[in-house]
Amino acid sequence: MLTISTAGIIMTLCLLKSAEASSVRFFSVDRTQQKDGAPPSGKSKAVDEPIVVNVNLQQSFSTIDDRFVGVTLDLWSLLDTWGTLDFNSRQVQNMARALAPCYFRLGGGGSDSMTFVVDDIDTHLKHPVPNPPLFNLTATQWIAVNEFVQAVGWDFIFDFNALKRNADGSWNPDNARQLLQFSADRNYTIVGFQLGNEYEYFPGNYQKNLSAEQYAKDTVSLRQLLTEFPNYYSSFITGPETVNTAVQYFKAYLAAGAYKTVRAASFHQYYFAAPNGALANFTDVQVMDLLVARLDDVIGQASSVDPQLPLWLTETSSAALGGMFGVSDRFVAGFLWLDKLGLCASRSIQTVIRQDFYGGNYSLIDANLNPNPDFWLTVLYKRIVRGAVFHATGRHDVRVYAACANTDNFPAGSLVVYMLNPNNCTVTFDLRQFNTQPRFSYSLTAGDSDGLVSKFMALNGVKLELVNDELPDLKPESAPRGVVTVPAYSYTFLVFPEAGVSICLH
Ligand SMILES: *[C@@H]1O[C@H](CO)[C@@H](O)[C@H](O)[C@H]1NC(C)=O
Ligand SMILES: *[C@@H]1O[C@H](CO)[C@@H](O)[C@H](O)[C@H]1NC(C)=O
Ligand SMILES: *[C@@H]1O[C@H](CO)[C@@H](O)[C@H](O)[C@H]1NC(C)=O
Ligand SMILES: *[C@@H]1O[C@H](CO)[C@@H](O)[C@H](O)[C@H]1NC(C)=O
Ligand SMILES: *[C@@H]1O[C@H](CO)[C@@H](O)[C@H](O)[C@H]1NC(C)=O
Ligand SMILES: *[C@@H]1O[C@H](CO)[C@@H](O)[C@H](O)[C@H]1NC(C)=O
Repeated sequence: MLTISTAGIIMTLCLLKSAEASSVRFFSVDRTQQKDGAPPSGKSKAVDEPIVVNVNLQQSFSTIDDRFVGVTLDLWSLLDTWGTLDFNSRQVQNMARALAPCYFRLGGGGSDSMTFVVDDIDTHLKHPVPNPPLFNLTATQWIAVNEFVQAVGWDFIFDFNALKRNADGSWNPDNARQLLQFSADRNYTIVGFQLGNEYEYFPGNYQKNLSAEQYAKDTVSLRQLLTEFPNYYSSFITGPETVNTAVQYFKAYLAAGAYKTVRAASFHQYYFAAPNGALANFTDVQVMDLLVARLDDVIGQASSVDPQLPLWLTETSSAALGGMFGVSDRFVAGFLWLDKLGLCASRSIQTVIRQDFYGGNYSLIDANLNPNPDFWLTVLYKRIVRGAVFHATGRHDVRVYAACANTDNFPAGSLVVYMLNPNNCTVTFDLRQFNTQPRFSYSLTAGDSDGLVSKFMALNGVKLELVNDELPDLKPESAPRGVVTVPAYSYTFLVFPEAGVSICLH
């Protein structure tokens, strides 16, 4: 730790991070704080000076609703008949209910290999044909997932196979029609649909290529198909579900007319591929900033076609290709996840759907059906943060976000400020506007001595675990007024129930 004073401003820097010239494009960092590279001069004190946080409460540039955070399940998990996921488990249902209301997307890499088969006998593929394995989604499996979604109160979004093609290259809707008919007969609610997943992989994985123009036409065909079914007539469509590399295609698809058909332009995002990942990536603000750059691109491309078009991040996690073993499911994963929620909220991304609820190393619940740290973080986020989003100043080596607090749990007018400290040193924050205000604190730290790679998370020092298959009370602590201390490698939500923020009163 280093304490320096420049031009009369005293700062405490974390040595590990201070040298990084990270460009945080979103935050307009308080100019008086932006002198980290300057050589020490003048008198220095051996006392940590807090980071001054300013929240602009006059203006909100976006609003998040109760479905802002959702979850996925990957269709690949069907190859293993959902693995160990037991839809009838009370524990699983309770955890799923804790995330409701939310969008639930069933799709992903498996979508474009999948055929729906009306067959009461579960004929799932035991030994998948390699690359790409074609597989059946059986009626039995479809009924199981629909009953689960209904029971837990999720809003279902289903991703159809885009590679069912006619001889002329257009999308063949026959199998999708079969699935819709089967679903309509059982009155299943499916609020949204998609067509295909990450077109970038069509040529490499499927030896198929699809022009943006054709894909836009196919989206209209899907819209027409939905009109055949009163149950799904008013369901929405999102597209094109492209991932990191295809920003030009994303725009071309929308510009080819899809912007008139989709409820939201949808895209996917991962910071890096699991095999290239390192533990240090998960607490690196430069890695967090990769999302800033990506959102800039996507927002720019979409708004050049239609500035009003909503944007949804419909599949996202830390590391692509299943998540990073021993890291993506640990306490440390929360830094990228919470920062993503903060950034997306600030950037008017309406919906962020986490890959995934179950399966792989980035899941919210593990193979034994116990909650991973990001499960708790997601539940807390939904319970605490909702409504108008405000701009907050921070510093390049920490992250600070502010929004209205969820009025389901806090009085109207309450504000929440959430702060991430991805550094190996304690950081204090001076939230001047609220220093005299009472506050509730949710301090989230590693749940045991494994630290960053802990399988657990602690809330105000208490390790979070299910109790008899139920979630415990996730209660905050009344915290002392004045500056806020955020321990090394932790994040804190601070709710000001008496803030009386006028934008949060409505
Ligand atoms: C899918 O189901 C069809 C019809 O039941 C069957 O003929 C086919 O072998 C199945 N395909 C796979 C990959 O299991
Ligand atoms: C179908 O589901 C809708 C919405 O859940 C419900 O309002 C309606 O009563 C159901 N209809 C039948 C025939 O079950
Ligand atoms: C796919 O088609 C587009 C034109 O529609 C072309 O620009 C692109 O190079 C093709 N990609 C592959 C891998 O063939
Ligand atoms: C992740 O960390 C490794 C090891 O330090 C580094 O080589 C790599 O560039 C980092 N990845 C990103 C996306 O910054
Ligand atoms: C996690 O990653 C490891 C290494 O890639 C893999 O062997 C394992 O199957 C993954 N775990 C799950 C639950 O997918
Ligand atoms: C954080 O600092 C402590 C004490 O300086 C050190 O023991 C620990 O290894 C550091 N943790 C990480 C993840 O670098």
